[in-house]
Amino acid sequence: MMNSENQKIRILADPGAMSRAAAETIIGRISECLQTRDVYTMALSGGSTPRRLYSLLTNEAALREQIPWERIHFFWGDERRVPAGHPDSNYLMAYNAMLSKVPIPSTNIHRIHAEDADADEAAADYEIEIRRFFGIEAGQIPQFNCVLLGMGADGHTASLFPATSALVETKRLVVANWVKKFQSHRFTLTLPVFNNAAQILFLVSGEDKADTLKAVLEGDSKTTRFPVQLIQPAHGEVTWFLDHSAASRLKPAD
Ligand code: 6PG
Repeated sequence: MMNSENQKIRILADPGAMSRAAAETIIGRISECLQTRDVYTMALSGGSTPRRLYSLLTNEAALREQIPWERIHFFWGDERRVPAGHPDSNYLMAYNAMLSKVPIPSTNIHRIHAEDADADEAAADYEIEIRRFFGIEAGQIPQFNCVLLGMGADGHTASLFPATSALVETKRLVVANWVKKFQSHRFTLTLPVFNNAAQILFLVSGEDKADTLKAVLEGDSKTTRFPVQLIQPAHGEVTWFLDHSAASRLKPAD
């Protein structure tokens, strides 16, 4: 599963160069999209890798000023079962690194209320929010303009972890996914949503992910050993932004 019609793999020297390449791709797509649309929708990822991208999009004036923030709506691809102010919160990471530093109306920020008492209800509420925002009925799937995703060394993406029930969800847009190793739920958008996105950007850095990345990108595309291999958008584009360490086991490009 190397470069193909709807999939590109970009290998950059380090996490800084990788984040810059992703930032330029995002800005390019935003300006293209907003020529024909009122708003641009983005589902953010959590973890540590995207923080540098979020900071770059805000701290560098030349990049920040190219984005009409008031026309961007932010959602999350997944969230930990913690309150918004908790250090593990994906919302908090993006808020501190980016959203608190740009002129964006709070109504454009659609976070998962991961602190709510009932996890399944919190997931259902987020689905209602997404359906309301996209103006879609039951059975319809929203199309995000852009979804940011990462990958764990175990091949998980968003909070689609190996051997978890969310991997087989085909109806709901959002689920509270029980993850045994955390003894906790993780909130995650589901595969129907990810696979309906117009654009998926993976940001993967670090040698600890190199073996899994080789299996995912060069392995037999007929077998899906890892959840990340289930991300196969029907019409959308996929771009992998990798740093040299993460890409260190890949065959050299032809
Ligand atoms: C999360 C993420 C998760 C992340 C990977 C990679 O909530 O943790 O959404 O899917 O992208 O775990 O995490 P790192 O970027 O920290 O390596």
